[in-house]
Amino acid sequence: MGADSFSAEDPVLGPGISEAVGWAGLVIAEARGMQLIQPDGSRVTDLMGAAGVNLLGHSHPGYVRAMADQLQRWMIGAHGSDARRDMGRQLQRLLPEQLNRIQLYSSGSEAVEAAIRLAKSATGRYEILSFWQSFHGRTMGSLAHTSGARNGLGPPVPGSISAPYADCARCPLRMTYPGCDLACVDLARDVLREQSSGALAAVLVEPVQGRAGNVVPPAGYLARLRQLADEHEALLIADESMTGMGRTGEVFASDRPDVRPDIMVLGKGLGNGYPVSAVCASLELMQRGPFGAPSASSSSYGGFPLACRAVAVVAEAVQEQGLAGRARLLGERLLARLSASLVDLPLVAEVRGRGLALGIELDIANKEQLRHVFQQLLNAGVLVMTGGRTLRLYPPLTVDEAELMAAADTLSEVLRRHWDEQ
Ligand SMILES: Cc1ncc(COP(=O)(O)O)c(C=O)c1O
Repeated sequence: MGADSFSAEDPVLGPGISEAVGWAGLVIAEARGMQLIQPDGSRVTDLMGAAGVNLLGHSHPGYVRAMADQLQRWMIGAHGSDARRDMGRQLQRLLPEQLNRIQLYSSGSEAVEAAIRLAKSATGRYEILSFWQSFHGRTMGSLAHTSGARNGLGPPVPGSISAPYADCARCPLRMTYPGCDLACVDLARDVLREQSSGALAAVLVEPVQGRAGNVVPPAGYLARLRQLADEHEALLIADESMTGMGRTGEVFASDRPDVRPDIMVLGKGLGNGYPVSAVCASLELMQRGPFGAPSASSSSYGGFPLACRAVAVVAEAVQEQGLAGRARLLGERLLARLSASLVDLPLVAEVRGRGLALGIELDIANKEQLRHVFQQLLNAGVLVMTGGRTLRLYPPLTVDEAELMAAADTLSEVLRRHWDEQ
């Protein structure tokens, strides 16, 4: 067991880390852009991107400079700072106008918890409707709205209700869009009629389901959820932890005139790797009920200057470099390239996604086969994220197009070879 091997950490590291990280077993000495560099100098192309966190690319020079400068000045305390002023200014340039107040936290789960508290606080009700296959985190409140993670952990938080998502390729109603006229939303309405005690505080939704494999709902779905929330005088919470800050080709996937979420959750790429998340809402909502009372919505690290500096740099880059548009364009080209090269391969059930959040769903028998494909990709120098039967791709929004397409071609070749060897 060499000092540079992944297993050198076995004596201290508890079990339960990310499956894909464990499978990869990589040790990284440095990283640049989309490249991970191992201690022996060998490189791996990082399409895992920490499941959507790596927004600006590893070791982005402007980000590193700003963070190093902030670190040398001060980083502990939630007092006023130029970093927080910049963060507010830069983020507000991007946010929809109705979301004019920001509270910072450290992780996506924590921000989802805060968003739920805010919804309960603002409405005086307690039920939350979320959707099958969702991922909203693993803390107790968010866990109640995270699919497949609750086994063995007892009853979820009371008032947690769920209905099918608009996953058209695997429609739980066995219907076809657009003929279905979004019957899944009608089903959600029926679920509420049967299960709600009239106390719906919010509808909580991922605009694109990340962990489920980057599942994109059809046009009009989010608008119909908005209407459903309105019918119950409930709030709409868009969990944009994965989709936000340009990842899916728009700055925020739920920022549409017919959706207008009341609360938005941001995380992952928001700090480009610095652990920071946010809840965004109107002042009118935030000051209602217990949420707005002194100390009622704070956390130990919320709004510390290093986190604020990270958000400010990311938000400025998204705005100034048009990263959402870039993600849209490159995402369309990547999707087209992968679709064209994989369309006739029986191993591939679907290639999907939006912007630079793509999914290649495999038609495989079991997890062992998924692991085998994952390992073959890694042997060819390409690291991907997994989720269910899907390979998930999250390149940085700053990625060089030629480098991205070369990685896509390697990926297609490996999948084709895997199928031929079957
Ligand atoms: C949509 C969504 N919400 C919340 C979370 C939880 O974020 P964190 O892992 O930072 O707690 C995730 C993480 O994958 C996510 O994808």
